[in-house]
Amino acid sequence: MCSCTIFALICAQEVAMSNEKKTFYITTPIYYTSGHLHIGNSYTTVAADTMARYKRMCGYDVMMLTGTDEHGQKVERKAQEAGKTPKEFTDEIVADIKNIWEVLGIRYDKFIRTSDDYHVAAVQKIYQELYDKGEIYKSEYEGLYCSPCEAFWTESQLVDGKCPDCGRPVEKAKEESYFFRLSKYQDKLIELLENNPHLLQPEGRAAEMINNFLKTGLRDLCVSRTTIKWGVPLPFDEKHVAYVWIDALSNYLTALGYKSDDDSLMKKYWPADIHLVGKDIVRFHTVIWFAVLMALGIELPKQVYGHGWLQMNGDKVSKSKASGAACIVDPIFLAEHFGRDAVRYFLLREMPFGSDGEYTYEGLMTRINTDLANDLGNLVSRTVAMAHKYFNGTIPAARVADPIDEELLTLTRTAVECAKPHMDAMAFSSALTEIFKLVSRANKYIDETAPWALAKDPANADRLATVMANLFEAIRVVANLLVPFMPDTCAKILSCIGAEVVDWDKCCSEGMLPAEFTVTACEALFPRIDIKKELAAVGLGEDAVPAPKPAKKEKKKKVEEPAPAAEISFEDFMNVELSVAKILECSPVEKSEKLLKLKVSFGNEERQIVSGIAKAYAPADLIGHNVVVVKNLKPAVIFGLESFGMILASGQGDQIKVMFADDSVPGDRIH
Ligand code: ME8
Ligand code: MG
Repeated sequence: MCSCTIFALICAQEVAMSNEKKTFYITTPIYYTSGHLHIGNSYTTVAADTMARYKRMCGYDVMMLTGTDEHGQKVERKAQEAGKTPKEFTDEIVADIKNIWEVLGIRYDKFIRTSDDYHVAAVQKIYQELYDKGEIYKSEYEGLYCSPCEAFWTESQLVDGKCPDCGRPVEKAKEESYFFRLSKYQDKLIELLENNPHLLQPEGRAAEMINNFLKTGLRDLCVSRTTIKWGVPLPFDEKHVAYVWIDALSNYLTALGYKSDDDSLMKKYWPADIHLVGKDIVRFHTVIWFAVLMALGIELPKQVYGHGWLQMNGDKVSKSKASGAACIVDPIFLAEHFGRDAVRYFLLREMPFGSDGEYTYEGLMTRINTDLANDLGNLVSRTVAMAHKYFNGTIPAARVADPIDEELLTLTRTAVECAKPHMDAMAFSSALTEIFKLVSRANKYIDETAPWALAKDPANADRLATVMANLFEAIRVVANLLVPFMPDTCAKILSCIGAEVVDWDKCCSEGMLPAEFTVTACEALFPRIDIKKELAAVGLGEDAVPAPKPAKKEKKKKVEEPAPAAEISFEDFMNVELSVAKILECSPVEKSEKLLKLKVSFGNEERQIVSGIAKAYAPADLIGHNVVVVKNLKPAVIFGLESFGMILASGQGDQIKVMFADDSVPGDRIH
């Protein structure tokens, strides 16, 4: 073949390849079938699903893999207790897990079970290859084994003599075993992690691995057991079954048909783009898995991402932590109670993805009330209601622009570029913050343009149509960007405004609403939650419920008729600067029953105010509302916190009523 023929062939191949979609292979850990899943485990899968949906919307050919990790002693024991075979036992758990994913809207492309025949056969071939290559050898194992975690530990890794993962006692185990030559990969692994920051994210995890595991010295790894029946028998010695972690990790390859007759998926999707895992299992994924892949001569995944934990009282969420109100960590209960989109949103918004974060039932409901009911839900329902009220649902094409539109229009046009870097880095919380800036800006735009005022004069009809069109365009972009997070809600919004879902990347410039368009009715997206009632319903109400009756009586006795104030002049009154402010943030003041700490905005200025209204209002009741503030009150320090300004209210104790000013514009002076 002459060189130009070869060149032509190469070019043809390149053209063919460039026409193919880019691929994206993302995996979740495969879940243990020895326990039940809770909101903490769902976290990994919700994140992976969101990422997968995002990539699909950016035009990728996505393979999202999840599944179950079924072998091992724990399942063997539990099945026996239940009078079932391990397979019968895991069949039921697998059905439950698939149901959870369905309820949470997880759209996986493949579900692998380590008990699947093809997986078992491939794991045997992997062991055989490692054995043939001399990477696995026979010896005797003596070590410290945590049976619930199925992990061997060295003395130095124990915490207070116990398993560093679960805190339970470890047992000395001694048996004839096969070993994988892990120690020989120590230097190579250190070098890899040191030189490839992308390989293990978020930042900091690599240093943890290097210093806590790799540099303390790697020993060869025991990769077989003779005491367990429920596992993959080793092809070269059937008394032994495969070590569960090698069995489990191999799923990322076997799911693609590795070591089967058909390796087309391997060719298409390997190396994986992301193995998404919780930080507790980063060690297995970067040390053991990387070494096994190197031993097999297979390319490493492009990235392992170790996210943080959802915690309760500073410890990993678990069913027992939520004792008494186990439903509050049950993903099915939560999704059915609040809607799956709300749960998905909460998980990805509440804490930065790489870090740990505290989970509380109240925190979940507060998030839903503030971000989803108040901000997003309100924006959509107000705008749709106005469209029907002023235009019978059809916004006419006439336009009259105003400089006041510019900020909203700019944000609407640039929303993709603001959110995209965060999405690509799996910084979901930051991406959501960016997207919700557009939500807030649109809400503010309603206050600024006051459509209800425009509607009073028919001469303003064109301007009013412009305002409505700008709002709907912002809503369209927001809904399109939020599809990966909240697919159901966004489908409702987009259908209500008659817009199509378009590529995530292009939604600022494609799929725009036509000059004239019609919106239909839209049901309330996120009904407000009565937090106190919900807490009481699950038995968490005591400390959230306001003071009981006797306290009230006492207070009544003490309340005195206020003496009428002396008359003041108009000038005196004008010296008091009363302004409208919007409550941006609000939280209780520690150790105080009465005080709330608020951040308010006057439009161009933000301030902190400490206010004695905690007995009557929860933070969620206030955030997003406008109130009246005495703006020129001298700053004071209350409970160690600076307070500048005073919020106007009437009444006392739990009867206090704040003067809301939701129809007024923040920053406006009251006269
Ligand atoms: O580890 N917060 O399975 P698993 C955040 N079978 N993530 C949590 C969490 C919490 N409170 N609790 C659990 C296994 N997770 C192995 C994986 S992969 C080849 C084998 C996460 O069911 C945990 O970090 O114990 C892990 O990523 C996932 O849930 C499954 O945990
Ligand atoms: Mg675990």
